[in-house]
Amino acid sequence: MRKTMKRGILILGACGQIGTELTQALRKRFGNERVVASDIRKGSGQLLNDGPFEIVDAMDYASIEDVVFRYNVDTVYLMAAMLSAVAEKFPEKAWNLNMNSLFNVLNLAKEGKITRVFWPSSIAVFGPSTPSIDTPQVTVMEPTTVYGISKQTGERWCEYYNKRFGVDVRSIRYPGLISHTTEPGGGTTDYAVEIYHRALKHGNYRCFLNGGTTLPMMFMTDAIRATIGIMDADPDNITIRSSYNLAGISFDPEEITASIQKHIPDFEISYEPDFRQEIADTWPQSIDDSTAQKDWGWKNKFSLDDITQVMLKNLKPRYEE
Ligand code: SER
Repeated sequence: MRKTMKRGILILGACGQIGTELTQALRKRFGNERVVASDIRKGSGQLLNDGPFEIVDAMDYASIEDVVFRYNVDTVYLMAAMLSAVAEKFPEKAWNLNMNSLFNVLNLAKEGKITRVFWPSSIAVFGPSTPSIDTPQVTVMEPTTVYGISKQTGERWCEYYNKRFGVDVRSIRYPGLISHTTEPGGGTTDYAVEIYHRALKHGNYRCFLNGGTTLPMMFMTDAIRATIGIMDADPDNITIRSSYNLAGISFDPEEITASIQKHIPDFEISYEPDFRQEIADTWPQSIDDSTAQKDWGWKNKFSLDDITQVMLKNLKPRYEE
């Protein structure tokens, strides 16, 4: 067999909500052997069996570097992070994880050990003083959550490493992400996934946000396409080295309820807002992503009703007797 010179791709946090589907998509595209899944603990059978899997603590520079050398990695997707709701409970731990992991990967690139980095940012970089409708790419950013502060700071460091050291780092401000493959891990937008599970299992859902809380959201298929799209783009077209606004759709709990009721007419929702309401109230309702559209041709595809249809169809077998 001829030896291939193609270099490896490493996903840190491969067992998380985005990491799981991103790993599958990258393996489909580049071949199972080239894509190394890694996480702090062992993940699902498929991630382990389809291709290489390594236990890696994203806060430990040496353990990332070791995998980078062993698999001749040139691109790292850093998907390990503590999300908004959990981060409010463990502020220092969240800060350490979200920042140190980023420094580790940016420094590997600065030292020339890898050539490209993908790092996710979030709508959480915005705060109560940001214009909340069609939030522009460049605007006031005064985040009030630990998660938002870590993402905003991370964006500044990404841009700094690009300008100062020429690091090819690319980033997207993801909205709330909806998928049926892996559960979200402690975010404020998680209700938009839980609601589908509850609708199928119990026919009702007690929502931790108020009915009129509009937030930017996106189906995971679109989010993965965006991630691969920005990494495929010509580096000269990437004019934003902090992070790109990315718009999908915007809806509130009442609208997602109505969408579910088209399939499950008896589905009922009640509202019992908790501390996550305060977080949601500081985030935008809709996003202007014209810069991403112009620079690398981004366009969202899935509507709310499309998402509802795919979610219910794929989750249904789990809840059938
Ligand atoms: N989905 C994330 C959260 O709710 C936002 O980036 O924390």
